Amino acid sequence: MASDLSSTPPPPPARSPAPRAPLTIAPMRLADLSAVMELEVRCFNSPWSLDVYRRELTRNPRAFYRVVRPADPPARPDLPPLLAYGGCWITGDECHVMTIATHPEWRRRLLGEWLLLDLLAEARLRAAAVCTLEVRAGNTAAIRLYEKLGFQEVGRRPSYYPTTAHAPREDALIMTLFELNTGAVWRPLIQRRREVETAIDRGFSGSS
Ligand SMILES: CC(C)(COP(=O)(O)OP(=O)(O)OC[C@H]1O[C@@H](n2cnc3c(N)ncnc32)[C@H](O)[C@@H]1OP(=O)(O)O)[C@@H](O)C(=O)NCCC(=O)NCCS
Repeated sequence: MASDLSSTPPPPPARSPAPRAPLTIAPMRLADLSAVMELEVRCFNSPWSLDVYRRELTRNPRAFYRVVRPADPPARPDLPPLLAYGGCWITGDECHVMTIATHPEWRRRLLGEWLLLDLLAEARLRAAAVCTLEVRAGNTAAIRLYEKLGFQEVGRRPSYYPTTAHAPREDALIMTLFELNTGAVWRPLIQRRREVETAIDRGFSGSS
Protein backbone atom coordinates (compact mmCIF):
# COMPACT_ATOMS: atom_id res chain seq x y z
CA MET A 1 0.00 0.00 0.00
CA ALA A 2 1.30 3.49 -0.91
CA SER A 3 2.04 5.66 2.13
CA ASP A 4 0.17 8.89 2.61
CA LEU A 5 3.01 11.41 2.26
CA SER A 6 0.75 14.30 3.06
CA SER A 7 0.42 13.06 6.67
CA THR A 8 4.15 12.32 7.22
CA PRO A 9 5.24 14.39 10.23
CA PRO A 10 8.03 16.89 9.56
CA PRO A 11 11.52 15.70 10.60
CA PRO A 12 12.61 16.91 14.03
CA PRO A 13 14.85 20.00 13.96
CA ALA A 14 18.52 19.08 13.61
CA ARG A 15 20.20 19.08 17.02
CA SER A 16 23.49 20.88 17.29
CA PRO A 17 26.23 18.37 18.21
CA ALA A 18 27.27 18.24 21.85
CA PRO A 19 30.26 20.56 22.40
CA ARG A 20 33.51 18.66 22.35
CA ALA A 21 35.36 18.40 25.66
CA PRO A 22 38.40 20.70 25.55
CA LEU A 23 40.81 18.12 26.99
CA THR A 24 41.15 14.40 26.61
CA ILE A 25 43.03 11.58 28.33
CA ALA A 26 44.68 9.14 25.96
CA PRO A 27 47.27 6.35 26.04
CA MET A 28 50.81 7.73 25.87
CA ARG A 29 52.39 7.15 22.43
CA LEU A 30 56.00 7.16 21.28
CA ALA A 31 55.15 10.41 19.46
CA ASP A 32 54.39 12.02 22.85
CA LEU A 33 57.84 11.35 24.26
CA SER A 34 59.57 14.57 23.27
CA ALA A 35 56.82 16.55 25.05
CA VAL A 36 56.94 14.10 27.98
CA MET A 37 60.71 14.58 28.31
CA GLU A 38 60.35 18.36 28.29
CA LEU A 39 58.00 18.09 31.25
CA GLU A 40 59.91 15.28 32.95
CA VAL A 41 63.02 17.41 33.45
CA ARG A 42 60.91 20.29 34.78
CA CYS A 43 58.83 18.15 37.15
CA PHE A 44 61.32 15.74 38.75
CA ASN A 45 64.67 15.96 40.53
CA SER A 46 65.65 12.54 39.15
CA PRO A 47 63.99 12.49 35.73
CA TRP A 48 63.57 9.24 33.83
CA SER A 49 65.46 9.00 30.56
CA LEU A 50 63.91 8.80 27.11
CA ASP A 51 65.06 5.17 26.94
CA VAL A 52 63.17 4.29 30.08
CA TYR A 53 59.96 5.71 28.62
CA ARG A 54 60.56 3.97 25.29
CA ARG A 55 61.04 0.66 27.06
CA GLU A 56 57.96 1.20 29.18
CA LEU A 57 55.81 1.88 26.13
CA THR A 58 57.17 -0.88 23.90
CA ARG A 59 58.41 -3.73 26.10
CA ASN A 60 56.50 -3.71 29.35
CA PRO A 61 53.16 -5.47 29.08
CA ARG A 62 52.42 -4.75 32.75
CA ALA A 63 52.64 -1.00 32.23
CA PHE A 64 50.12 1.54 31.05
CA TYR A 65 50.71 5.26 30.61
CA ARG A 66 48.28 8.09 29.91
CA VAL A 67 48.55 11.73 28.87
CA VAL A 68 46.21 14.69 29.20
CA ARG A 69 46.21 16.71 26.01
CA PRO A 70 43.98 19.21 24.18
CA ALA A 71 41.26 17.33 22.30
CA ASP A 72 41.81 19.54 19.26
CA PRO A 73 45.34 21.00 19.48
CA PRO A 74 45.13 23.34 16.43
CA ALA A 75 42.00 24.91 17.94
CA ARG A 76 43.82 25.57 21.23
CA PRO A 77 47.14 27.29 20.53
CA ASP A 78 46.91 28.65 24.10
CA LEU A 79 47.54 25.15 25.51
CA PRO A 80 50.75 23.08 25.48
CA PRO A 81 50.74 19.72 23.65
CA LEU A 82 50.70 17.84 26.98
CA LEU A 83 49.21 19.08 30.23
CA ALA A 84 49.84 16.02 32.39
CA TYR A 85 51.01 12.45 32.20
CA GLY A 86 51.32 9.40 34.39
CA GLY A 87 51.52 5.66 34.43
CA CYS A 88 51.24 2.47 36.44
CA TRP A 89 52.31 -1.13 36.57
CA ILE A 90 49.97 -3.99 37.33
CA THR A 91 51.38 -6.97 39.19
CA GLY A 92 48.80 -9.57 40.14
CA ASP A 93 46.00 -7.69 41.83
CA GLU A 94 48.22 -4.74 42.75
CA CYS A 95 48.60 -1.50 40.85
CA HIS A 96 51.72 0.58 41.44
CA VAL A 97 51.67 4.23 40.39
CA MET A 98 55.06 4.71 38.73
CA THR A 99 54.83 8.39 37.89
CA ILE A 100 52.41 11.29 37.64
CA ALA A 101 53.03 14.93 36.82
CA THR A 102 51.20 18.05 35.70
CA HIS A 103 52.73 20.78 33.55
CA PRO A 104 54.16 23.34 36.04
CA GLU A 105 52.13 26.18 34.50
CA TRP A 106 48.85 24.26 34.62
CA ARG A 107 48.77 23.00 38.19
CA ARG A 108 45.91 23.34 40.70
CA ARG A 109 43.30 22.91 37.95
CA LEU A 110 42.38 19.33 38.89
CA LEU A 111 44.38 17.76 36.06
CA GLY A 112 46.46 15.58 38.38
CA GLU A 113 43.33 14.40 40.15
CA TRP A 114 41.57 13.66 36.85
CA LEU A 115 44.54 11.72 35.57
CA LEU A 116 44.94 9.74 38.80
CA LEU A 117 41.22 8.86 38.72
CA ASP A 118 41.67 7.70 35.13
CA LEU A 119 44.69 5.57 36.07
CA LEU A 120 42.69 4.04 38.92
CA ALA A 121 39.82 3.27 36.52
CA GLU A 122 42.21 1.46 34.19
CA ALA A 123 43.78 -0.37 37.15
CA ARG A 124 40.35 -1.50 38.23
CA LEU A 125 39.55 -2.74 34.71
CA ARG A 126 42.77 -4.75 34.95
CA ALA A 127 41.48 -6.33 38.19
CA ALA A 128 43.62 -4.40 40.66
CA ALA A 129 42.36 -4.61 44.23
CA VAL A 130 44.91 -2.25 45.77
CA CYS A 131 46.94 0.64 44.46
CA THR A 132 50.22 1.65 46.02
CA LEU A 133 53.00 4.19 45.43
CA GLU A 134 56.05 5.87 46.92
CA VAL A 135 56.22 9.61 47.37
CA ARG A 136 58.87 11.93 48.77
CA ALA A 137 58.05 12.64 52.41
CA GLY A 138 58.27 16.38 51.68
CA ASN A 139 56.11 16.36 48.55
CA THR A 140 53.05 17.96 50.13
CA ALA A 141 51.21 18.57 46.84
CA ALA A 142 51.38 14.92 45.80
CA ILE A 143 50.62 13.59 49.29
CA ARG A 144 47.52 15.80 49.53
CA LEU A 145 46.38 14.60 46.10
CA TYR A 146 46.75 10.94 47.11
CA GLU A 147 45.03 11.51 50.45
CA LYS A 148 42.17 13.26 48.70
CA LEU A 149 41.44 10.08 46.74
CA GLY A 150 41.69 7.83 49.78
CA PHE A 151 45.32 6.70 49.85
CA GLN A 152 46.67 6.08 53.35
CA GLU A 153 50.24 6.19 54.56
CA VAL A 154 51.21 2.60 55.34
CA GLY A 155 54.98 2.83 55.75
CA ARG A 156 58.19 4.73 55.16
CA ARG A 157 61.41 3.82 53.34
CA PRO A 158 64.26 5.75 54.96
CA SER A 159 66.58 7.58 52.50
CA TYR A 160 64.79 5.97 49.54
CA TYR A 161 65.57 8.97 47.33
CA PRO A 162 69.36 9.51 47.09
CA THR A 163 71.03 12.90 47.14
CA THR A 164 71.06 14.55 43.72
CA ALA A 165 72.41 17.85 42.38
CA HIS A 166 68.96 19.34 42.98
CA ALA A 167 67.66 17.64 46.12
CA PRO A 168 68.92 16.16 49.37
CA ARG A 169 68.41 12.55 50.38
CA GLU A 170 64.83 12.00 51.41
CA ASP A 171 62.55 9.31 52.86
CA ALA A 172 59.71 7.84 50.83
CA LEU A 173 56.24 7.43 52.23
CA ILE A 174 54.46 4.32 51.03
CA MET A 175 50.81 5.10 50.38
CA THR A 176 48.09 2.62 49.52
CA LEU A 177 44.49 2.76 48.38
CA PHE A 178 42.79 -0.42 49.60
CA GLU A 179 39.73 -2.24 48.28
CA LEU A 180 39.70 -0.56 44.90
CA ASN A 181 37.62 -3.52 43.74
CA THR A 182 34.75 -2.77 46.14
CA GLY A 183 31.76 -0.57 45.42
CA ALA A 184 32.24 1.24 48.72
CA VAL A 185 35.61 2.56 47.52
CA TRP A 186 34.95 2.74 43.81
CA ARG A 187 31.54 4.45 43.68
CA PRO A 188 32.69 7.72 45.30
CA LEU A 189 35.68 7.76 42.95
CA ILE A 190 33.39 7.46 39.91
CA GLN A 191 31.24 10.26 41.29
CA ARG A 192 34.34 12.37 41.90
CA ARG A 193 35.55 11.73 38.37
CA ARG A 194 32.28 13.12 36.98
CA GLU A 195 32.62 16.24 39.12
CA VAL A 196 36.23 16.73 38.11
CA GLU A 197 35.42 16.31 34.42
CA THR A 198 32.63 18.87 34.66
CA ALA A 199 34.94 21.32 36.40
CA ILE A 200 37.72 20.77 33.85
CA ASP A 201 35.33 21.15 30.90
CA ARG A 202 34.16 24.44 32.38
CA GLY A 203 37.64 25.63 33.34
CA PHE A 204 39.21 24.89 29.96
CA SER A 205 36.27 25.69 27.70
CA GLY A 206 37.50 29.10 26.53
CA SER A 207 40.93 30.59 26.14
CA SER A 208 42.39 30.40 29.63
C1 LIG B 1 51.46 16.39 42.42
C2 LIG B 1 50.94 17.00 41.13
C3 LIG B 1 50.87 15.90 40.06
C4 LIG B 1 49.52 17.57 41.38
O1 LIG B 1 49.00 17.97 40.14
P1 LIG B 1 47.89 19.13 39.98
O2 LIG B 1 47.33 18.98 38.61
O3 LIG B 1 48.44 20.45 40.34
O4 LIG B 1 46.84 18.68 41.09
P2 LIG B 1 45.28 19.01 41.13
O5 LIG B 1 45.01 20.38 40.70
O6 LIG B 1 44.55 17.90 40.45
O7 LIG B 1 45.02 18.92 42.70
C5 LIG B 1 44.15 17.94 43.26
C6 LIG B 1 44.31 17.99 44.77
O8 LIG B 1 45.65 17.68 45.14
C7 LIG B 1 46.03 18.49 46.27
N1 LIG B 1 47.08 19.43 45.86
C8 LIG B 1 47.60 19.59 44.62
N2 LIG B 1 48.59 20.49 44.65
C9 LIG B 1 48.70 20.92 45.92
C10 LIG B 1 49.55 21.84 46.57
N3 LIG B 1 50.48 22.55 45.90
N4 LIG B 1 49.40 22.01 47.92
C11 LIG B 1 48.46 21.32 48.61
N5 LIG B 1 47.61 20.43 48.04
C12 LIG B 1 47.74 20.22 46.72
C13 LIG B 1 44.78 19.25 46.68
O9 LIG B 1 44.08 18.43 47.59
C14 LIG B 1 44.04 19.36 45.36
O10 LIG B 1 42.65 19.50 45.51
P3 LIG B 1 42.05 20.97 45.73
O11 LIG B 1 42.60 21.84 44.63
O12 LIG B 1 40.57 20.74 45.64
O13 LIG B 1 42.53 21.44 47.08
C15 LIG B 1 51.83 18.20 40.66
O14 LIG B 1 52.05 19.06 41.75
C16 LIG B 1 53.17 17.78 40.08
O15 LIG B 1 53.27 17.51 38.87
N6 LIG B 1 54.25 17.73 40.89
C17 LIG B 1 55.59 17.40 40.39
C18 LIG B 1 55.69 15.93 40.07
C19 LIG B 1 55.41 15.10 41.30
O16 LIG B 1 55.84 15.39 42.40
N7 LIG B 1 54.68 13.98 41.07
C20 LIG B 1 54.33 13.07 42.13
C21 LIG B 1 55.38 12.04 42.26
S1 LIG B 1 55.00 10.91 43.60
